[in-house]
This record gives sequence, C-alpha cells and structure tokens, in this order.
Amino acid sequence: MNKTLINDLGAHAGRQATLCGWVYGKRSGGRVIFLQVRDGSGICQCVVEAQNGDVFLSAEKLTRESSVEVTGLVNVEPRAPGGFEMKVSGINIIQIAGEYPITPKSHGIDFLMNHRHLWLRSKRPAVIMKIRDTIIFTLRKYFHDNGFMLVDTPILVPGAGEDAQTLFNVEYFERKLFLAQTGQLYLENACMAYGKVYCFGPTFRAEKSKTRRHLTEFWMLEPEIAYAKLEDVMDLAEDMTVKVVEAVLEKHEEDLKFLGRDVERLRNVKKPFVRMTYTDAANNLRSAETKAWLEKELEHDKAKLQDLIIKLTSLEDQHKTAKNAWQVDKLTSEMHDIKEEIADLDRDIQNGPEHIKLAQEFEWGGDLGGSDETIISRQFDKPVFVTHYPKEAKAFYMKKDYDDDRVVRNMDMLAPEGYGEIIGGSQREDDLDVLVERIKEQGLKPEDYDWYLDLRRYGSVPHGGFGLGIERLMTWICGLKHVRETIAFPRTMGKIYQ
Ligand code: 4AD
Ligand code: MG
Repeated sequence: MNKTLINDLGAHAGRQATLCGWVYGKRSGGRVIFLQVRDGSGICQCVVEAQNGDVFLSAEKLTRESSVEVTGLVNVEPRAPGGFEMKVSGINIIQIAGEYPITPKSHGIDFLMNHRHLWLRSKRPAVIMKIRDTIIFTLRKYFHDNGFMLVDTPILVPGAGEDAQTLFNVEYFERKLFLAQTGQLYLENACMAYGKVYCFGPTFRAEKSKTRRHLTEFWMLEPEIAYAKLEDVMDLAEDMTVKVVEAVLEKHEEDLKFLGRDVERLRNVKKPFVRMTYTDAANNLRSAETKAWLEKELEHDKAKLQDLIIKLTSLEDQHKTAKNAWQVDKLTSEMHDIKEEIADLDRDIQNGPEHIKLAQEFEWGGDLGGSDETIISRQFDKPVFVTHYPKEAKAFYMKKDYDDDRVVRNMDMLAPEGYGEIIGGSQREDDLDVLVERIKEQGLKPEDYDWYLDLRRYGSVPHGGFGLGIERLMTWICGLKHVRETIAFPRTMGKIYQ
C-alpha cells in the first residue's frame, strides 16, 4: 500500500491515493456519508456514496476515532478544509473505536485536561503543538546559524542554580541530589571552553504557586556568551524573539487566527524593544497616572462584564426554546464559552483593587510580583526589558552594577499584553571575591560551588546569558490564558493528569 499524507494531497490531485488515519467526524446526508479523516498532518473530507455498496456499509459502521485506511480519487475542492476532497472507493477498517469521551460539544477545561492523552488529537491542541514544534525548530536553527554550540547540561545536580526553596530532591544512591532548575552554571563553564554555547532541556521547580504562569517541569533554552555584557545579552534576546515571532507568523497565521489570536499585535514585535530600569518600573507602578489608568480599565471591565451577562441571559432564553439537537449543541457550546469569559473577567475585577494597591505600595527592593509584571507589560505593544534589579531580589551569580552596587546587571524580558516575564538573564559576576561574598549572603555554601568558582580563577572574563521559558513564550505568542496548554503533558503543583 502506498500511503499518502493529507498535507501532501496536492501532489495527488486527479489521482488515486490511500490515507491512513482516524475518523475525526462523520456526517450523513442520506445517500452519502461525509467522513472527516485526520492523519496528524491534516484533515481531509472523504465522500462515500451509497452506490458503493460494501464501502458504504463500512462507512456506516465507523465511529469517532475509529482507525481506517481510506482509498479514493483526490479532487480539488476549494470549499473543503485543506482544499482537497477524496471520493472514496475503498475502506479498510483497522479498529472500530469505542464510544469516544470527547464530543464536538464544548467541554470544560478540567474534563479536557483529564483526557489530555486523547484531547491531543483535537484541532486546538494539535495546532498549539505544531506551533511549539516550529518555535523550537526555529530557535535551535537560530542559535546554530549564529555560531552557538549546543551543550547538553545535566538534569541531576548537586546544588541550587536558582532559589533553593524550589528544589526537587532526588535520592541518588547514598546521597541527595536535585533536579536541575537551570543549566546555567554548567553553561557558564562551557562558554569559557567554546565561546558561544546554548542548552535546551527540561528544568524543574517545586513552585508552590498555582498560577497561570507556573509549571513544575518546563523547557528552558539558555544561551551563554563569553566576552559579553548585559547590553549584548539583551540585543541577542531581542533579535531572537523577533525571529521567532516572524517564523510563527509566516507559517502559522491561520493557526493563530483559529486560536483567536490577534495577529496584528504580533506584527508589532519589532526592534527596538522598550528598555527601562527596575527603578523606573517601580516609579511607574506607584505613579498617579498608572493608578488612574488602571481604575479606568477596571470600570471598562465592569461594563464589559455587564454586556456578557446580558448576552448569556439571551443565549439561555434561546436555549430553552431551541428546536433541534444541533441548535441545542451550538447554544450549549456558546454559553459555555461565555461563562468561562465571565469567570475570567469576574476574577480580574475581583483582584483589580488589590493589584492596584500592590502597585501603589510597591517598595523598592523586592522582586516584581506577577500582577506588577502584568501592569508594566500591558502598557506596551512590544516586549519590555526591565533591568538593574536590587541585588537582594535576584540570584547570587548576577554581576553587581559598575556604578550602583545596590543593583545587579540583569534583565527580565516581559512579553506585552500583560503576559509578563518570559526571559530572565544577566551579566555574570566574574570577580571571585565578590561572587564568594554573594554566595554567602544568600545562605549558600561556597564549598558547594568550588567547581563553578574555578572559572573565575582561570581566565575569568565578562560573560552573560539568559533563560527563555518555552511555555511562557508560547502562551504569549498563541494568546493563551494558561501555560498548561503549551506542553503535551503539563506538570503543575495542582494536578498531574496522566
Ligand atoms: O528567570 P529564571 O529563573 O532564570 C534562570 O533560570 C536563569 N538561570 C537563566 C539564565 O540566565 N541562563 O527562568 C528563566 C525563564 C523565565 O523567564 C520563565 O520564562 C521560565 O524560565 N520559567 C518558568 N516557566 C514556567 N514555569 C515556571 N515555574 C518557570 N520558572 C521560570
Ligand atoms: Mg526570572
């Protein structure tokens, strides 16, 4: 059997082909059955006519997600999804699937996450996973083409690379190790060997926060460059981000629209990005202008909530008098979506006053909270670098600023539209004595980092890098509400589904 992929059907127009896939949907129009067959590369409408005898009887038996090989003539059909249609002449049933739990009706997110292993087959997750593939491929190619060498860093590590509070312990024979929170410390050493390097792998944080931004296992891409300063690191982060967004827009514009993403906003992602210091960000949060703007937004949200409630009531009325099952399904699904929108907006409105208060009372010295990042990043239509944080708020390895030793030469890159931090990076402390002091200040033991300190002993140079969280980047690019949809099998503090 010669198997054809649905996204290659163009090369087979006017000829016979065989698709190997699963039944995604089925519609019967009396003497003809329309099968939607998916094969992972796309979806094809396959038309089976009653005059086909046995083939028609086979089609009648097919249930959702049954596995089939379908043979027939490929025709150009501009109205069909994908642009082609198959006139079926043969069906080979591999398995008739049992009653499939996911139906075309709207399901709640909890139900879908409980069925994540099956939900992956549906169009929405499939689109997101394809965008993930493009993003990761583009990033790897970007670094490879720009002279960065891939160095894989370990997952089992002896010490903290970030906040020691978020370490996962692993029993390792007779001793205790941890799951890596970052590859950075290894990469800093590798950059002294090879100049420009990067790593890309899973990282682990025992984050006790159940937010839309936190996973306990996430994928991080980390470049590290020898002979580099903070400004070089920001230039790289900026260029890389522009290239990734361009690649996604080029390949996935339709997919993004399917997800409801406003692609015009992504087109604004051009150089230069906004750059502001932490001190400027703190002043911005506390300013009267920011307060007035946030209060106006809150009023706007309240008005929007009223509109949604009116719309929901109207849908509920229509639902009561709906005439057929198809209408009931459609209305149920619309009501479901509106209810989710209402719940989200309601939560924003409930939290609004608290977030305004937190911003107004923001004290110089602490890290920016999630709501503070949201407030800053909502003010711009492209990413914002916030630089020079107080040293107490950041990790031990960040280099103290040349002019103001209360702050470090670091940056967080916040994605616009309220998405918040997607990149964290810095120039590294290259002075041995200062670094040992910083390690002690943070309650860590210099002995544990002796190997890391070696790179300050033997040919220390200014260097720096950053970490990009793939799932956070995707949440923003795809315009999603929650990071959990960006990875096939998410791990969060709240729940592990599979
Ligand atoms: O800011 P972070 O903690 O920086 C580091 O780990 C540095 N060692 C990186 C470096 O300089 N080489 O994490 C970097 C990024 C964040 O900006 C965020 O995108 C992502 O990793 N991230 C998370 N993503 C999902 N869930 C979590 N719990 C995350 N924690 C961090
Ligand atoms: Mg960070």
